[in-house]
Amino acid sequence: MASSQKLKITWLGHATVLVETPGGSRLLIDPFIAHNPKYPTGFELPAKIDYVLLTHGHGDHISDAAPVAKKHGATVVAIYELADYVAKQGPNPDSIKTVGMNIGGTVELGDVAATMVEAKHSSGAQDADGTHYVGVAGGFVLTLKDGPVLYHAGDTTVFSDMKLIAELYKPKIAMLPIGGHFTMGPKEAALAAKFLGARTILPLHWGTFPPLTGTPAQLAALVDKGVKVVDWKPGESF
Ligand code: NI
Ligand code: MN
Repeated sequence: MASSQKLKITWLGHATVLVETPGGSRLLIDPFIAHNPKYPTGFELPAKIDYVLLTHGHGDHISDAAPVAKKHGATVVAIYELADYVAKQGPNPDSIKTVGMNIGGTVELGDVAATMVEAKHSSGAQDADGTHYVGVAGGFVLTLKDGPVLYHAGDTTVFSDMKLIAELYKPKIAMLPIGGHFTMGPKEAALAAKFLGARTILPLHWGTFPPLTGTPAQLAALVDKGVKVVDWKPGESF
């Protein structure tokens, strides 16, 4: 058997995360690249990306979904209506492959079982034609075949059903928004970490724009003993 590589999670600023699994799958979550002020300068995505996962339809999460799908041959995985919206950015009906799913469902993506879970947030995709209904906001639990269970919360506040996510999937590593204003801030994220039972928190959705004022240090001061808050910078990997 070929020796497996290590799990690598790279933060590309805002909520954009590249997950490279022990089995060799490459997943890009919420690609916000061209207009992301915190996208790491000069960072090159791998030539082949297997899947682009979208948590919801806001521009700071999907604006580079179609370009990445086309350039890197990725299949876009999103809630049903959002997958349909991205598929129409073609230009031809078959030029972007998509998997439409919904809350509670699980799809097999290489060596990853991706489960869509709830989030408390709005959704809606805005373009030159106005605002489009693209389903509700969600998050993803990623159960790796030879690795830990990861959770990317998307945009959300804390909600008590995070306890269900803990009971069902037992995430070890949680990627949580902490910036505030459009999502939860450190106070709410600390309770989310408790509900989830995750021992490692990778903070997202902070510092991108002036209103997103929450910081990893603020969160670190509030979490239970033994919970590690990773103070990473865009371009760094965990
Ligand atoms: Ni949003
Ligand atoms: Mn957002």
